[in-house]
Amino acid sequence: ISCGVVIVAAGRGERAGAPEEGPKQYRLIGGRPVICHTLEAFATWAVEASRKLVFVVVIHPDDEALFEKARQLLSPGLDLTVVHGGSTRQLSVLAGLRALSLRAPSHVMIQDAARPFVDNALLERCHDALSVGHDAVLPAIAVADTLKRAGADGLVSETVPRTGLFGAQTPQCFRFASILPAHEEAARSARTDFTDDASIAEWAGMPVTLVEGSPDNFKLTTKRDIAMADQILNRTAL
Ligand code: C5P
Repeated sequence: ISCGVVIVAAGRGERAGAPEEGPKQYRLIGGRPVICHTLEAFATWAVEASRKLVFVVVIHPDDEALFEKARQLLSPGLDLTVVHGGSTRQLSVLAGLRALSLRAPSHVMIQDAARPFVDNALLERCHDALSVGHDAVLPAIAVADTLKRAGADGLVSETVPRTGLFGAQTPQCFRFASILPAHEEAARSARTDFTDDASIAEWAGMPVTLVEGSPDNFKLTTKRDIAMADQILNRTAL
């Protein structure tokens, strides 16, 4: 199989606070922008597993300069195209998939820029699942906490059984010829609020196969997540 990688980095990261510090995917962790770690994780895996990857990075038009600066820090020779994203994650992914279609990969891995700790073992599990013929592959981890539903009044209305519940991660991986039409159809039907790509696959009737995610592969959402990521990298470097 041949894999393209779409890295979505066009969000504004409003939940990370401190807008003066810029979008979260360009904040520094371990001395380098978050997005550099994410891209290098894939690049390292490609080298170690002897696989050729084609990258499309989806950025916000306002972030051209930020991305160029980050790009200078990447290892040279990455096959990387940059395109502009849309107003939702879903539309940003669609822009990335359209750009990637020019390169005609058989499969695509769709990754949040904000998950810098994706590792070789996880990528290999995803790749294996694609290789044996699954059309939609979702790394996920079983929910550990007891789940409660509560109203706006702060009162618990019920306990939701956690059996069979998983937290969805990225990279979400697909047969390219299946996911691009599903995304196009979702956009045509004016559904632009899917928060991940597996849900578009489900909506389109594709079976989605789970593979084991990794607790390390958390998404940087808040300022605290960014501080924690920085700590993890600095600790590792010691
Ligand atoms: O906001 P959230 O954390 O769910 O975003 C997940 C990923 O999607 C981030 O890497 C973010 O940059 C990206 N995104 C995007 N375009 C948007 C919104 C989010 O590329 N309009």
